[in-house]
Amino acid sequence: MIDRTPLVSVLDGSAADGEITVYGWVRTARSGKSVTFAEITDGSTSSSLQVVFHRDRFGDLSELTTGACVRITGRLVESPGQEQSRELEATGLQVIGPSGDDYPLQKKKHSLEFLRSIPHLRVRTNTFGAVFRMSHHLSLAIHRFFDENGFYFIHAPIITTSDAEGAGESFQVTSMPLDSVSLVDGRVDYTSDYFRRKAFLTVSAQLEAEPMALAMGKVYTFGPIFRADPSDTRFHTAEFWMIEPEMAFFDLDDDIRLIQEFVRYTARYLHERCGEEIAFFGRFYERELEERYRMLTASDFARITYTDAIDLIRRSGRHFEVAPEWGCEISTEYERFLTDEHFGSPVFVTDYPAAIKPFYMRLNDDGRTVACTDLLFPKVGEIVGGSQREERLEILGKRAEECGIDIGDYSWYFDLRRWGSAPHSGFGLGFERLLMYFTGMENIRDVIPFPRSRGRML
Ligand code: 4AD
Ligand code: MG
Repeated sequence: MIDRTPLVSVLDGSAADGEITVYGWVRTARSGKSVTFAEITDGSTSSSLQVVFHRDRFGDLSELTTGACVRITGRLVESPGQEQSRELEATGLQVIGPSGDDYPLQKKKHSLEFLRSIPHLRVRTNTFGAVFRMSHHLSLAIHRFFDENGFYFIHAPIITTSDAEGAGESFQVTSMPLDSVSLVDGRVDYTSDYFRRKAFLTVSAQLEAEPMALAMGKVYTFGPIFRADPSDTRFHTAEFWMIEPEMAFFDLDDDIRLIQEFVRYTARYLHERCGEEIAFFGRFYERELEERYRMLTASDFARITYTDAIDLIRRSGRHFEVAPEWGCEISTEYERFLTDEHFGSPVFVTDYPAAIKPFYMRLNDDGRTVACTDLLFPKVGEIVGGSQREERLEILGKRAEECGIDIGDYSWYFDLRRWGSAPHSGFGLGFERLLMYFTGMENIRDVIPFPRSRGRML
């Protein structure tokens, strides 16, 4: 067994008195006349431990280099330094995994762009350690919220036959070697493929969450989503995680209320548990970070219909690259105007034109808009997309047809409207975008351990 005291208990004072042994990685080492100081981290806390090596005791410290993995024995003493209250006075050192001058993280500061090229190492920096600790707490907050509110956690399939969003952004899954697919009359012969039909990686778990909700009441999924998104911005990635709750007997108003409660819960949860990380990001990345948490919990989020939003944007007198017109998407520049300028808060935009939304959203009485909402956040833009689902068989069939959907592929989905159909709603929240908001990180690739995006995969 390895006798080891984690740094978190060394630094919070709970470690036993006397000699202790710590394991970790050298963040920095600098030598003075008679002593050498090293900063050690082990991932158990965001802080590092300062270790003092008296050179009359340690002859050769040449292997105590940045990046090395070390085992250090010593005694905790009061630190004369300003930065920490206690430090470890070393009595023994063993270099377990040496590291040389070629270790890429030599400097104290590196650009995020450079760090993106070494995802296997960047997690050793303060920044990425803090990001992924917060990612952990956010995941737990999500599960806790739903558990406390009577939801069941569902594992949705990752391989599916549907393109739920109808946006044609799916990655195809096949066991056929693409360079020798069997063709019949010039077309791919799927009967020799693994599933004997076309299959995809899921773009949303919603369609599978619906049958579960229509039996279990309130369910949620929280899993990976894959999209060959044509947008390649700092908010888009090919592989991300989505939280998708689905609730029977919920209309759009109930859905919106739940979204707000959910987002607020996660903000309070992180604020209570991640004080050190939030202070760190506030200091080095986003001055207004505290304000972001306050904004989420202070008052109700704004709410506006799509039609009113377009009107507001048109009447704003602002110059936009593309002039807004009813029926267009809410582009980034409109989002910024609504969240950062006009409302200065998160805003629910509801009731979009049916023509720009998927077939499953419930048609409103006006016959041209659907009962849906996007939640837009200042700085980050769209965090959530949700809707009441079309529960009327006939209207669903019509909408599917208009959207060019092959109803035969979705017969099971239509069954839900044939037998015991019920009003129901749900939403999808992008985990990484929420984490961007909570950490102040400005690129989605900086909140994912091994990000995948167009033309980039390490
Ligand atoms: O708005 P979207 O496409 O909604 C759906 O897929 C619904 N079926 C969800 C549901 O009702 N169950 O995606 C939901 C959220 C977006 O608001 C955004 O936060 C995130 O998923 N998202 C992405 N995040 C990162 N990279 C991408 N390429 C993303 N596409 C969507
Ligand atoms: Mg959306």
